[in-house]
Amino acid sequence: METEELSNLTQELAHAALAAAERSYSPYSGFRVGAALKLTNGEIVTGTNVENVSYGLTICAERSALVRAVAQFGPEIRVSAVAVVNLNGAPSPPCGACRQVLAEFMDADAPVSFPAGRSGIVAPVTLRFEELLPYAFDLNLK
Ligand code: THU
Repeated sequence: METEELSNLTQELAHAALAAAERSYSPYSGFRVGAALKLTNGEIVTGTNVENVSYGLTICAERSALVRAVAQFGPEIRVSAVAVVNLNGAPSPPCGACRQVLAEFMDADAPVSFPAGRSGIVAPVTLRFEELLPYAFDLNLK
């Protein structure tokens, strides 16, 4: 993908993710995250984090977007790009659990953008999925 095309796509997804982050249910952490997935069918599906009083049952924005995408468009979906944002001005790379769940539906080259922190400065970075999760677990059954 061309640089300009990639940056337009990332911007479009980040914009959609921000709207989802506004709807975050995060009374325990106050950390409001939004994720937007671009599907190969052209659709954009968003998700936000939904916390729980038991803490451990919290679902992240990325996984909530993914389960929503499957529920809306079925098990054959493929995710061609992802953007993650938060309303806290903090770094929020996708957590390890979300990376493994995304791996099920993403190709190695698909771009993932998220706010990263380097030397105290938070700025969006975009990585290929494989850079984000090398050696994803896979049974090679597919
Ligand atoms: N969170 C996400 O939604 N995505 C991530 O990748 C990391 C963490 C949420 C979970 C929890 O509601 C809050 O951020 C603080 O950990």
